[in-house]
Amino acid sequence: MKTLVVYFTRTGYSKMLAENIAGKINADTEQIKDDKNWSGILGYLKGGLYGFSKKMTQIVYSKRPENYDLVIIVAPIWAGSVPPAINTYCKKLKDKINNIAIVLNSESSSLDSTFKHIENLTKKSSANLGVIKKKMTVHDIENKIEKFVEELK
Ligand SMILES: Cc1cc2nc3c(=O)[nH]c(=O)nc-3n(C[C@H](O)[C@H](O)[C@H](O)COP(=O)(O)O)c2cc1C
Repeated sequence: MKTLVVYFTRTGYSKMLAENIAGKINADTEQIKDDKNWSGILGYLKGGLYGFSKKMTQIVYSKRPENYDLVIIVAPIWAGSVPPAINTYCKKLKDKINNIAIVLNSESSSLDSTFKHIENLTKKSSANLGVIKKKMTVHDIENKIEKFVEELK
């Protein structure tokens, strides 16, 4: 199965998850970037606003999702939702994604409603992996990743 792991990250955690998963299943990876500066406290505040209002941004990506059997989207939670680049990617490319799996991570927030949000955006049901950093040990997270990649096979 040809798989693409697409991720958006501000501070590197989603990149680390994406590369871990991709390495286990020999998948391609792609970092989505957008036209906004999310760094610093102003970037954080703006990110909260954009996340909360489910805004979109101009995104940059190069790999075509239609060339893959499965696209795994890896994203952090921003104000109970996902970063705008992920909203944009899902809305723009939903018809080109054959199958989807979603990996979300947060500090402490529940992820259930955000999984549903992405499933609604893409109109596809997905395999899901959720990482809540303050509620899970590194060992728990690695076990969950192992289970998730087994389910994908
Ligand atoms: C703008 C913004 C909003 C956030 N909102 C939440 C939130 O509502 N709940 C939560 O648990 N974590 C929240 N976080 C924390 C991130 O989801 C978390 O640190 C994540 O692991 C960061 O991933 P990254 O390193 O790939 O950017 C927020 C972070 C940012 C930058």
